[in-house]
Amino acid sequence: VKPKAGVPEGTPVVPPQDLPSRPRRNRRSETFRSAMRESFVSPSNFILPIFVHEDSDKNVPISSMPGVFRLAYGKKVVDAVAEARSLGINQVVIFPKTPEHLKTSCGKEAFNNNGLSQRTIRLLKDSFPDLEVYTDVALDPYNTDGHDGIVRDDGVILNDETVEFLCRQAVSQAEAGADVVSPSDMMDGRVAAIRRALDREGHTHVSIMSYTAKYASAYYGPFRDALASAPKPGQAHRIIPPNKKTYQMDPANYREALRECRTDEAEGADIMMVKPGMPYLDVIRLLKDNSTLPIAVYQVSGEYALLKAAAERGWVNEKDAVLEALMCFRRAGADLILTYYGVEAAKWMAGDALLRTRN
Ligand code: PBG
Repeated sequence: VKPKAGVPEGTPVVPPQDLPSRPRRNRRSETFRSAMRESFVSPSNFILPIFVHEDSDKNVPISSMPGVFRLAYGKKVVDAVAEARSLGINQVVIFPKTPEHLKTSCGKEAFNNNGLSQRTIRLLKDSFPDLEVYTDVALDPYNTDGHDGIVRDDGVILNDETVEFLCRQAVSQAEAGADVVSPSDMMDGRVAAIRRALDREGHTHVSIMSYTAKYASAYYGPFRDALASAPKPGQAHRIIPPNKKTYQMDPANYREALRECRTDEAEGADIMMVKPGMPYLDVIRLLKDNSTLPIAVYQVSGEYALLKAAAERGWVNEKDAVLEALMCFRRAGADLILTYYGVEAAKWMAGDALLRTRN
């Protein structure tokens, strides 16, 4: 065997290995790699979460989510959505910041037909009739306790009573023009009850995206900052649980996600979601392989904050790390991706597409 040209001095001279398979052959050029790629991600997969407020007419930065703002109700929200649409994102999910004086212990502002959420839905549907508007169905932005359900004095989160309010909330959002209502509360039986309530009121065309496998995660912190919606300590006579572990799932559990999946499918969900995203890719795959429904994943506020913080320090290449995470959601089986990186990622992807056509 002769030494090969171009190899550094000292490279061992060896005969070719006798290999039946050399996977590297299919990776040797960008043409091959892109021709044989198994997963694709596009802005059409994205659902952009938007925070809305009306404390002022300015967009307010959220300190634990650099680059994300509470958008001022009105022109500022419309402008932000117009920008997203210009980049190919045509789905948004609305999260309203309720003024403290409108919060009550049972959170009935959730189904005020003239509430911030309902007005934002109307504003966006009037401005962009073909935009798909998703809403969040849960009581935490509206009640003084910061829980997704109604809290009894002894600290129990009431299930069936909460579901009644969630139904009213979903109907009120549908009446305002919502295309998809998304229960994020993890109460039992809420998908079936919401489906019945919507149908009874003539909203058979409104879809339900259920937060099917929503875990009691530490990654929701920045979101709760954004809406001032974290569980609050109780007064003397009321116990307010400091976490959501009696309704959100235990991060240790996998098979339980299948139980939630079967229930939501039987109850009439149109889309099932896994949340958070990156630590739960196995759960995305589980649902994808056990259901015929589309699967969504929520890359949550804490995931965004982690990526931003490392990127700001120069510890990871932000664009590469983010596009990799989004691609991995698709590979794991997610059809839809809720991501605060939507607009930035869409810009990066548009830039890459331009580069490809030029080369
Ligand atoms: C409300 C809700 C939460 C998130 C989405 N809907 C917070 C929570 O459950 O405490 C979190 C989203 C994020 O962290 O980006 N039920």
